[in-house]
Amino acid sequence: MSGPVIRTRAPSNIALVKYMGKKDAARNIPSNSSLSMTLSDLSTFVELRLFEGAPGMTWVAELPSDLPSSRSAWEVPRLNAAAQERFQRHCIRVQGGVQELLKTWGLFSDSSFKKLELRTANNFPASSGIASSASSFAAMTLAFAAATAAEPSVFAAKFSGAAQPARILAALSRQGSGSSCRSFAGPWVAWSDEDMDPISTSAMPEMAHFVILIRKEPKAVGSSEAHLRVQSSPLWQGRQERAEQRVVQVRNALMEGNLSILAQETWREAWEMHSLFHTSSQPFTYWQPGTVQGLHFFSQFMQDAEPPIVTLDAGPNIHLIVPLRNKELWRERLKKEFPESALLEDTPGLGANFVV
Ligand code: PMV
Repeated sequence: MSGPVIRTRAPSNIALVKYMGKKDAARNIPSNSSLSMTLSDLSTFVELRLFEGAPGMTWVAELPSDLPSSRSAWEVPRLNAAAQERFQRHCIRVQGGVQELLKTWGLFSDSSFKKLELRTANNFPASSGIASSASSFAAMTLAFAAATAAEPSVFAAKFSGAAQPARILAALSRQGSGSSCRSFAGPWVAWSDEDMDPISTSAMPEMAHFVILIRKEPKAVGSSEAHLRVQSSPLWQGRQERAEQRVVQVRNALMEGNLSILAQETWREAWEMHSLFHTSSQPFTYWQPGTVQGLHFFSQFMQDAEPPIVTLDAGPNIHLIVPLRNKELWRERLKKEFPESALLEDTPGLGANFVV
């Protein structure tokens, strides 16, 4: 017999100050604090179907049946056996970790609906410089937690908009994928050790986000490997102190709406993370000729009164965050400067939630 269907959606996020290196690899405790902007549209959609039967979770390589926009906008990720096992381990982790919250909410259950079927889809192309692990783990964490509750719909209603449950679920999600914990709130979110910490500011103008797709091929060095290799760089020394200081500077700049400091510190941070990659004992780079061209192009704006906020994730593609009022101007500039590259567009968002 089939039971409830749970639908969740979580956006990805882009770090201005990066999580790079782990203090505790087993629990994904970062070496330094980080700070990011949560996206709005670019996201993972999850559909979790519950059935009576032997406990277990299976990922099904199909689009969810009911998507929030045109089906052609969504892609089923390609997951190998190891990635599917990682999802299964995460399901067990969330089922165990959410028990306290369920008891507090009177939603503890030993329901007979234990067999789960998971379908996931992303509305951004794979390897596009958008962290799909952040959005997918955030969306899955919510769905697995609700599936463990006596009444998933009551869980969903209680979760929506509540700050403390978002922190609890973010901490569980972090153990599956570190940066996913920052997708539980928005638009601006800090993360230190085990804590996801939303930043509230009224000083920032409305912002727009672009990704310049320099290259779409999967990256040669995954983020788990990058977290390890950076620690062998001579630049690793002092990295924690610099990153902590930068989080404070960026946080203050957000509180003051100081776009100039935001842009300068974000720019330095992107260079710093990539310099760690370039100088590790087994050096690697994500940069492509188009990345270098882009960095050259954007460097000329850094002294402007309102420079664009420019960053790179662990990949060749360039992220740009600018005031919404300048969006058209930047779109035209980007199309002219990068005629060969596709552009993704988004705005800041509020984080993972249920879709009802
Ligand atoms: O969450 P992970 O382990 O995939 O690490 C991602 C880290 C970066 O995306 C490179 C930076 C960040 O803070 O998002």
